[in-house]
Amino acid sequence: MSNNLQSLIYSNEGGDKPTLSVLDQLLVPHEKTYIKIPDVEAAWSVIRTMQIRGAPLIAIVACLGLSVDLATNPKTLAELEPLSTKQEVIDYVIKKMDYLRTSRPTAVNLFNAMDELTGAIQAAGESKADVIKTVISHAEFMLERDVSDNKAIGDNGAKDILDNLKDRSKVRMATICNTGSLATAAYGTALGVARSLHAMDKLESIFCLETRPYNQGSRLTAFEIMEEKMPNGTLICDSAIAALMRTKGIDACVAGADRVCANGDTANKIGTYMLALCAKAHGIPFYIAAPFTTLDTKLANGDLIEIEERPAAEMIDTSKAPTTMPVWNPAFDVTPAAYITGIITEKGVIRKGEDGTFDIAGFIAKHS
Ligand code: MRU
Repeated sequence: MSNNLQSLIYSNEGGDKPTLSVLDQLLVPHEKTYIKIPDVEAAWSVIRTMQIRGAPLIAIVACLGLSVDLATNPKTLAELEPLSTKQEVIDYVIKKMDYLRTSRPTAVNLFNAMDELTGAIQAAGESKADVIKTVISHAEFMLERDVSDNKAIGDNGAKDILDNLKDRSKVRMATICNTGSLATAAYGTALGVARSLHAMDKLESIFCLETRPYNQGSRLTAFEIMEEKMPNGTLICDSAIAALMRTKGIDACVAGADRVCANGDTANKIGTYMLALCAKAHGIPFYIAAPFTTLDTKLANGDLIEIEERPAAEMIDTSKAPTTMPVWNPAFDVTPAAYITGIITEKGVIRKGEDGTFDIAGFIAKHS
């Protein structure tokens, strides 16, 4: 994979002195600048300002940022010094996690990762060093798992699309937002499916929606498509999708997810619901591609998902509207399960039951 698509640089040569830098995605594709993350405040800030974004990457940067903070931040080391019991150290780490949880609300990966890390430190040895070592080693495990899960998602999705392809040998795919290497530790989810199809020489063309208002499609996915030399990569404005389906034809739509509820309702970048509706109207399969870390069986359905609203300026600045114009700027929407053909995970594709919903908990139980 191209070097330009590295969302983060992490190292921990001595085993106890991790370092982390993240690619400033607000400057991509015109500039490649890495920001050093020395503490949880810096991790929180790059997540909140969307210098890094994408559900899996948000979770990974929070976990690695926490590791760096606990192992090397002088202020943290001084605060840890007087803590003597394991519970005191755990409470201290949990406070930092609670702070990281406030960075962005919709992507569940961050919350699942904090819960998973909490479980790991509770099971750690008794000393302060044991707890900190466990945070570091578990965060590193999550980093590696993200990459291998994404590769499996890509291959599972490519296979399912090809198995259901009618009268063609190659796939014309459409996608929204950025779900590639830059939104994850590497490879990507929905864009990972395109990567896998491309590797099999089964990708005929890939259309990416610009993804207003923050343009993750035009700034990031378009960049990844060009870097990876995917065939017939084409950028369209969001509102061109229905016309594209009607006039040129699309074989499959694949989008990522920020949260998949127990019944399969899925929150993803604003515009995803519109893409799913257009796909339904044209009889085109619409897939969600997401790792288990994006599944949220605690929420029964999509009405319960907190949808983040971003500042008006992020829309005004990119739309050239009058600066005082009131705006509504939700970062995500919810696609009801009814419009989703299948949910591609690292363990296989989740399919709907006869009632038109997905049994996400049943699938997890079967594959865990
Ligand atoms: O607001 P963003 O850019 O963080 O939103 C990202 C998306 O909606 C992605 O499609 C989703 O997180 C899946 S990333 C593999």
